[in-house]
Amino acid sequence: MSRLENKIALVVGGAGGIGSAVSQRFASEGARVYATSRKPAEATGVGSIRWIQADASDNADLDRVLQQIRAEQGRIDILVVNAGLAEHARLEDVSEDHFDKTFGLNVRSLVFAAKSAVDLMHPGAAIVLIGSIAGDIGTKGYGVYGATKAAVRAFTRTWANELAAKGIRVNVVSPGPTDTAMMAGASDEIRQALATMIPLGRMGRPDEVAAAVLFLASDESSFTTGAELVVDGGMAQV
Ligand SMILES: NC(=O)c1ccc[n+]([C@@H]2O[C@H](COP(=O)([O-])OP(=O)(O)OC[C@H]3O[C@@H](n4cnc5c(N)ncnc54)[C@H](OP(=O)(O)O)[C@@H]3O)[C@@H](O)[C@H]2O)c1
Repeated sequence: MSRLENKIALVVGGAGGIGSAVSQRFASEGARVYATSRKPAEATGVGSIRWIQADASDNADLDRVLQQIRAEQGRIDILVVNAGLAEHARLEDVSEDHFDKTFGLNVRSLVFAAKSAVDLMHPGAAIVLIGSIAGDIGTKGYGVYGATKAAVRAFTRTWANELAAKGIRVNVVSPGPTDTAMMAGASDEIRQALATMIPLGRMGRPDEVAAAVLFLASDESSFTTGAELVVDGGMAQV
């Protein structure tokens, strides 16, 4: 079944673990997908996805991406803002650089990506943000990261309210530990410890997060806005 036939989608940060799963799933559901990455287009993949080299933390880059989509398609039906970074730093180790980098990408860039993309959106369009259960739980060493994701949850509520009049829905998918490059540094010990904290007994897969993003991006969720869909194996839910 093609749930996204004739939809124009932009995935900001479309080449990482979750972003790539989202881009590929969208393409397989019939969307015309634009995906950004700092990597050159030829390094990011093949197939029907239109790769644009752009740094998600650079607003001028994002403006260039949106200009290209405006020229080629004239509209955006689905925006996913996925680019994000998570660095470990307990309060005593939080530096200005760590704070600015994390809020700069996870919050500032997300705000301006949404602001610019809304200009190209029409009634029926959907924005899906990528949050994290880190915004709800106090994992040691992830205070700044968790605060950025709590901000993403807050923007979801406000933008859902503000954009409802334009017929644009806004929701957030909040993954728990998911097996991507972001978790690549996790030792076997950490993985085992995590598994014991997750009721379903394992980390999530990027395609499981992509399935939730697909639901919120598609017309299947036409009466859902301002919501958070958590994909965490139950970790922060039970
Ligand atoms: N994996 C998890 O356990 C987990 C859990 C909860 C939430 N999340 C969230 O899911 C999203 C995707 O994470 P992932 O696990 O798929 O990680 P990933 O494979 O490391 O991908 C990270 C993404 O963010 C972009 N990015 C990273 N650092 C950047 C920087 N300094 N400037 C610009 N872009 C940057 C990357 O773009 P390039 O292609 O340009 O490198 C890539 O698209 C993030 O928002 C993350 O917070 C992940």
